[in-house]
Amino acid sequence: MTRLTHSEEDTQAVARDLASTLEAGDVVLLSGTLGAGKTAFVRGLAAGLGIDPEEVCSPTFTLVHEYRGGRLTLYHADLYRLDKAATGDLGLEEMGVTDGVLAIEWPDRLTHELSGAIRVQIDIAGETTRRISVGGR
Ligand SMILES: Nc1ncnc2c1ncn2[C@@H]1O[C@H](COP(=O)(O)OP(=O)(O)OP(=O)(O)O)[C@@H](O)[C@H]1O
Ligand SMILES: [Mg+2]
Repeated sequence: MTRLTHSEEDTQAVARDLASTLEAGDVVLLSGTLGAGKTAFVRGLAAGLGIDPEEVCSPTFTLVHEYRGGRLTLYHADLYRLDKAATGDLGLEEMGVTDGVLAIEWPDRLTHELSGAIRVQIDIAGETTRRISVGGR
């Protein structure tokens, strides 16, 4: 599925739609350049799960944030500052498998492939235009 969005709110709406289909153990991999809207997408996932989207911030120093109180717990990881050698120890593969959903920004940093993940690619197509492709599991 590919959609064009024209605002951050639009992008959040695409993510809210995806959130309604998510189940415990799902992993969402978010690819796209700096400022593409990956974190904005995670805010939409939060909203769709019943979590206050304002709580979602860019996990600069904390590698993984955890947001509870929604239909499923949302784990949010940003691997931008890591190299491949460092991600192997995070135990990301084990996260989210029981009670939650794991959203990962910069998944190209991962040491191993996460099988069965939902791949979201966000491309900048204009100042406020984004092309968002959402793959299947
Ligand atoms: N259609 C759109 N969808 C999402 N964000 C948009 C859109 N148009 C403009 N923006 C702006 O683009 C920026 C996206 O920022 P965001 O932090 O979500 O990007 P990111 O992909 O997480 O970047 P980083 O790689 O630095 O973590 C915001 O400033 C947002 O307002
Ligand atoms: Mg981000």
